[in-house]
Amino acid sequence: MSEPHKLRLGVLASGSGSNLQSIIDRCADGSIDAEIVLVLSNVPGAGALDRAKKAGIATALIDHRTFTERADFDRAIVATLQASGVELVVLAGFMRLITAPFIDAFPERIINIHPALLPAFPGLHVQKKAIEAGARFAGCTVHFVDGGVDTGPIIIQAVVPILDDDDEASLSARILVQEHRIYPRAIQLIAAGRLRIEGRRVRIAAAAVVDGVMVNPPLH
Ligand code: GRF
Repeated sequence: MSEPHKLRLGVLASGSGSNLQSIIDRCADGSIDAEIVLVLSNVPGAGALDRAKKAGIATALIDHRTFTERADFDRAIVATLQASGVELVVLAGFMRLITAPFIDAFPERIINIHPALLPAFPGLHVQKKAIEAGARFAGCTVHFVDGGVDTGPIIIQAVVPILDDDDEASLSARILVQEHRIYPRAIQLIAAGRLRIEGRRVRIAAAAVVDGVMVNPPLH
């Protein structure tokens, strides 16, 4: 019998790559029907590249500083992803804004993870902003990428409390644990063909209903 098709992922990362690692691990243990065919970074020496090499995954380095035009940088990325037969582009701490030609090359096939409960707190340093705003909850969001900054249709979110003595580091660490749970899950929902975008909303076939309500501080 032939192997069932595995969704071919291209992961783009600029940093340490802990989200990449969670996807590598879930591909390896069979909880997602996908394989990472390429890890691409714009940062020489990025931890994500080391993690990929250790896992035997092909890597590419496309340094944005060697391009004068943003569109040329994006074109180079698209060509590299296409040459690897990438079907789903997974942004995992990729710290560059991507342009329309990139998005058009992978329609509804680019996803991102963001360490806040979108649509609140798009952009950078969002854990700090959530604390400073006095929010009682923070979290993370996996969403499809459209032309805006952290604006595309939302696939899945996880919520964590903000505690009294939190600083940016402690809250970021609490959120990151949840990022590592929801990103592989979002990829599996796509791999299983369970997602459909309807305007701003993502419909999930046969989704379980969420139970439990969190109140912070607790009611008693
Ligand atoms: C994560 O917090 C992610 O939400 C944000 O960048 C960070 C990447 O961390 N987009 P890592 O490189 O996956 O460890």
